[in-house]
Amino acid sequence: FNVPYAVNEPINSYAAGTPERAELQKVYDEMWNSTADVPLYIGSEQVRTNKKNDIRPPHDHRHVVGHFYDGDASHVRKAIDTALAAREKWANLPWEQRASIFLKMADLIAGPYRAKMNAATMIGQGKNAFQAEIDSACEIVDFLRFNVQYMTEIYAEQPISDDGIWNRVEYRPLEGFLYAVTPFNFTAIAGNLPTCMAMMGNVVVWKPSDKQMLSAGVLMEVFKEAGVPDGVINMVQGDPAEITDICFDHEEFAGIHFTGSTGVFNHFWKEIGARVNKYKSYPTIVGETGGKDFVWAHKSANPKAVATALVRGAFEYQGQKCSAASRAYIPQSLWEGVKNYMEADLKEIKMGSPRDFTNFVNAVISKDSFDKIKGFISRAKESNDAEVVLGGNADDSKGYFIEPTVILAKTPDYESIREEIFGPVLTVFVYEDEKWEQSLDLVNNTSIYALTGAIFSQDRYVADFASKKLVDAAGNFYVNDKPTGAVVGQQPFGGARKSGTNDKAGSAQNLLRWVSPRLIKETF
Ligand code: ALA
Repeated sequence: FNVPYAVNEPINSYAAGTPERAELQKVYDEMWNSTADVPLYIGSEQVRTNKKNDIRPPHDHRHVVGHFYDGDASHVRKAIDTALAAREKWANLPWEQRASIFLKMADLIAGPYRAKMNAATMIGQGKNAFQAEIDSACEIVDFLRFNVQYMTEIYAEQPISDDGIWNRVEYRPLEGFLYAVTPFNFTAIAGNLPTCMAMMGNVVVWKPSDKQMLSAGVLMEVFKEAGVPDGVINMVQGDPAEITDICFDHEEFAGIHFTGSTGVFNHFWKEIGARVNKYKSYPTIVGETGGKDFVWAHKSANPKAVATALVRGAFEYQGQKCSAASRAYIPQSLWEGVKNYMEADLKEIKMGSPRDFTNFVNAVISKDSFDKIKGFISRAKESNDAEVVLGGNADDSKGYFIEPTVILAKTPDYESIREEIFGPVLTVFVYEDEKWEQSLDLVNNTSIYALTGAIFSQDRYVADFASKKLVDAAGNFYVNDKPTGAVVGQQPFGGARKSGTNDKAGSAQNLLRWVSPRLIKETF
């Protein structure tokens, strides 16, 4: 069984006048003018409870585009029981047949569901068309196709045998059920976490973010249409603490695949550890968490390239990528040039609804998020240790809009250079050119995170020195490029320190976390 060799899904530009743009606008308008109804999915059942929530676009919070439902403890227990009941058949299905389901899913998203996935991500999560396309079309498709390829390679990897002895490894799914918790900011993560576990023969209870329910509902439709059997991926929604508690408290809990905040992940470790005697096996714990991702420039760097990386890295999708550039270290001699280029770029950038394809910046996800981000900007405006040098305005009267903002920190440990903000705010620290080595210590020691980072230098010795010095500071390390936009199959993604377990998304290494290999030696 040879699967097609995975290649990255080509990205549509949605340029004015193209049929792709017309189609996406049509589907967007239909979705905008209708009311989606997203149930819980438990086995073959679609469950609607009397706890109904609105889905409102972040850029127009008076408009309702759909509803989703909160389940209670009984729904979570039922989802676990349903998953466990589906396990035996699914685990024993030949892996080639599981692969064919996920390849079909990739084709559905690349083709007939592409506009719907993108429109749901644009409306529900506030992405512009390009950001939606690279996430909810291309990246999901890439995850599915590359993971299927990695899966075939894993199953093919066998120990050596000898005369009269046959050694083989069965890559068994984990014994029990798995729990997936996914964030609002990438539809692709919601597409990847449950499917990569299911692909390896596992059954899953999936809790999406309550801020991603429009695209989560479309994903469930695709799972069903692709032929993922009932019970293999069950979607629940409700009180996150309650859902998690019930999953962790179950003796058949076999592992969690999480993307979200560091605080929540720390809590999960403790909760799982406290129950370790309960479980049949040690649960697998995989997480990708926070970031305070850096861009460091040497005086030999090209200031325009640095500015472009900062604008794209910090402000695409309103800075709500875990990989977003949020702190920059710029040498004195480059700062004016970098700032001027950024200022010129930001003047060109338009902010507004994703329905207008020329808007680069849309709204941030929620009122809570808006308030938190605005708080950092307001404090910087008042602080003696910081200065807002670009942007700084915010308006939530219609949607949660925050202008791309650059803060200049006068001390290297100013709060916005240390803390994760998850919004369109970049903090810059300007260092004296000759102190570039010391500035690398600041990059290394200022944050608890190690997700992504980028260095800019035309001097090869400096780049090599910085790369070695920052060896543990970023799981994804970029030289002369922005720290965002990892492509599946090209830059497997994940971070260390308090950014997660660094089990790269979209890699054989990740898939191997979801199997329990059985070695069989046969003598004859
Ligand atoms: N994988 C995403 C990126 O690299 C988060 O930007």
